[in-house]
Amino acid sequence: MTGIVLAAAIAATNATSTIKLPAPQADSGVTVMQALKDRHSERSFSEKDIPMETLAGVLWAANGFNRPDKRTNATGMNKQEIVIYAIMKSGAFRYDAKAGELVKVTDEDLRGAIAAQQPFAAKAPVSLLITADLSDPIYQGKGPWSTLSHYDAGIVSGNIYLYCAANGLATVCRGSMDRASLKKGLNLPDTTFIHLNHPIGYPADGGKSK
Ligand SMILES: Cc1cc2nc3c(=O)[nH]c(=O)nc-3n(C[C@H](O)[C@H](O)[C@H](O)COP(=O)(O)O)c2cc1C
Repeated sequence: MTGIVLAAAIAATNATSTIKLPAPQADSGVTVMQALKDRHSERSFSEKDIPMETLAGVLWAANGFNRPDKRTNATGMNKQEIVIYAIMKSGAFRYDAKAGELVKVTDEDLRGAIAAQQPFAAKAPVSLLITADLSDPIYQGKGPWSTLSHYDAGIVSGNIYLYCAANGLATVCRGSMDRASLKKGLNLPDTTFIHLNHPIGYPADGGKSK
């Protein structure tokens, strides 16, 4: 899939509804110290697509498996309840980290629902939506564990920021969005909590505004 950009790859796979992601490239990027130095929120996006390798890389950094049964992101009590959706012009896809695939959920372009009151976010070619499957009983009621997934979502957001900083991509962590439209558009059950989103793309000004 090397060199194939997102839009072309997705158009080619519309019929099957799943996109096989390339394996993450462990030797890409910069040092952790440099990524921390460069990390910042960016709210100005080019509409240019990002390569499929890059999308695969940021998804893996966010929530991929780095051991047979554990992930790049820590989760309270190892519940691994975080589920990420890639929201794009061609539709919305659930990230199946185990299979290394994007599974199509809808053909609808939900980037407007992601952007809500901040139109800049709809320009980004992809937004990652960080949700949590709270069907496990520990998340029910008011016990001390019921809020664990909020911390877990924050860790995923940090991973996304660092990957983007290391790979010349613009992003911003956002709590703002139209949650009702996203719940409907993605057909999410009541046990799914919508935490945060990250528009991702190339910076409109080449990254000069940080
Ligand atoms: C939980 C959380 C929610 C946020 N929500 C939004 C948002 O809805 N819209 C936005 O433009 N920025 C949002 N931000 C980004 C912050 O405004 C930003 O991180 C802060 O201004 C510091 O800038 P920096 O990330 O460049 O250090 C959010 C950040 C966090 C951690």
